This record gives sequence, C-alpha cells and structure tokens, in this order.
Amino acid sequence: MAEFKHFPVMLKEVLEALNCRKGKVYIDATLGGGGYSEAILEQIQPEGKLLSFDVDEEAIDYCKQRLNKYKNITIIKDSHVNIERHLRLLNTDEITGGVVYDFGASFHQLTSESRGFSFQKEAMLDMRFDKEADFSAYDIVNKYREENLVKIFSEYGEERFSKRIAKGIVQARKKKSIKTTKELVDIILGSTPRVKSKIHPATKVFQAIRIEVNGELENIKKSLVNIMPYLGDGAIIVTVTFHSLEDRIVKNFFKENSAKFPGGNLEIHTRKPITATDEEIKVNPASRSAKLRYAQVIKREI
Ligand SMILES: C[S@@+](CC[C@H](N)C(=O)[O-])C[C@H]1O[C@@H](n2cnc3c(N)ncnc32)[C@H](O)[C@@H]1O
Repeated sequence: MAEFKHFPVMLKEVLEALNCRKGKVYIDATLGGGGYSEAILEQIQPEGKLLSFDVDEEAIDYCKQRLNKYKNITIIKDSHVNIERHLRLLNTDEITGGVVYDFGASFHQLTSESRGFSFQKEAMLDMRFDKEADFSAYDIVNKYREENLVKIFSEYGEERFSKRIAKGIVQARKKKSIKTTKELVDIILGSTPRVKSKIHPATKVFQAIRIEVNGELENIKKSLVNIMPYLGDGAIIVTVTFHSLEDRIVKNFFKENSAKFPGGNLEIHTRKPITATDEEIKVNPASRSAKLRYAQVIKREI
C-alpha cells in the first residue's frame, strides 16, 4: 500500500463524543487517512453502517485498500456538502448515529511534494483538495484583483502585511505569471520586513490561499445546514477544527440551532471546546491548535 501519513487528531476524544452504538448509521465527512473511519467501524460491527466522504482521490484510493476488510462502509468521492444526494441514492433516510467532521488538510496533503500546499517544497501552485476541480492557487495568485488578494490574506490568513504582499504579487505577475510555490515565497519574502517570529513569513498567505481554493469556510456552514434534516433523534455531530475562523462557524451554528431557542434542536455538550492532551501534542504537534466541539440532536420535546 502506498504511504499515506496522517495521525488522527484527538481520536479517543472523538470516539467518546460520538459514542458509537452498534447498528446505527454514521457519517465520516472527511475520510482522509481513514483513522476515524476505521475506529468507528470497529465499534459499530456487525450491522452498523458508515458512509465516508472525501474529495481527494489519493485519500479515497488509500482508504479503499486500508478499509477493504470491512463490509459496512461506503466510500464516496464527493464533497460532504452533497451528503443529501448520496443519502438519497443509498436509500438512507436517517443518520441515526452521528457525523464527524475533521476540517482542513491531512498531513499527507500538506507534506506531499507535488500538491503545492507547502511553502517549504517547490511545486506548481495548486492546493486543490480535489484534483478534478478547475480552480487552483495559480488562478488566485495570477488572476485575483489586488484588493481581493488583500481581503483573503487579511480575512483567512490574518496576515498583517496583506497589502504589501498583494502589491508585490501584482507587480511580479505583470512581468510574468507566478507558477510555483517558490516564486510565491520569494515574492512574500521580498515584500515583507524581516521580523522575528517563530512562524515562516509565508505561513499565513499559504493558509489563506488554501482556504479560498477549496471554499473551506463556506463548505462548513453549507454542510452543517444540509445535514441537519437527516440527523435522527439522539444523533451526534462532532467537529474538529484547526483555526479560529473554522471554530467560530461551528460555535455559531451550534448556538443558532440550540434547543434553548424556539425551533432549535441541538443540545450543546461543549460550552468550551475540548483540546488535545499534552501527551498527544508531544507526539503530534499539529494537534496543538485542534478544537473539538460536539452537540446532540434532541427531537423530543424538552
Ligand atoms: C484532516 S483530514 C481528515 C483526517 C481523518 N480524520 C483521519 O483520521 O485520517 C481532512 C480531509 O478532509 C478532506 N476534505 C476537505 N474538504 C472536503 C469536503 N468538502 N468534502 C469531503 N472531504 C473534504 C480533505 O481532502 C482531507 O483528506
């Protein structure tokens, strides 16, 4: 099997929150390396059902092999935003168990030589989770107006030098199009003052471009809205987010749908998000910024 590295973040905490029950229907909205899916499958045997989604064919191919001994998983190459369509196709009326979302990119994607997610590796500007999508980092860097670049760098990257970097990009691309991660990094380095910081000057711009390429933030909200009508009484929604922009969307969605308000049917179990233990952070430093929230659908009157 080809190597696919990803350490499932807060796996124990995710499973505790999801509280998998035998025979129920579960969704893993972001399959990745299949860490959560495999753990869920182990708990719902023999009659439970798991539908796992990813848009990345490398994740799909890897998991088809990794999970091939399990009969009750359906692996679907599509966005979790389209869950509804697949539930219909599979004659599944209700998600009786719950859904887990592990937002963002996998370690495999971030460190892959060729996918263009990393500012440390020279590659074509790409950053698509879905290699069939027709819009990539190249389009943003070479075609967005300067003010739109400023907007995404500021909003999605919280980059303090957004204006200077956007200006640097627009000047550079007048001479020739910007094709590689290295060219973009050089422009960022050339447009920003040297400041002492633990993070590389390109970190935030790369994050912002990745979020924009994949429509990550709007997909979170869309997917939660789309899946709600299919969640049965007692079903659980678990989310793992990696930065405050994602976390805020989930937090607000849970609040807006809280059973405390008329029409709402979510009982929120995490007033404050759960974070990774020190032991996990030591082994997997990326888990440092992860936040887990979960809520349960309550359809009976409370
Ligand atoms: C952090 S990884 C998930 C890791 C997984 N929980 C595990 O244990 O291996 C996130 C995955 O979500 C996928 N993804 C991102 N946006 C998606 C979308 N809209 N629909 C489905 N999958 C998506 C990415 O391609 C990536 O493989």
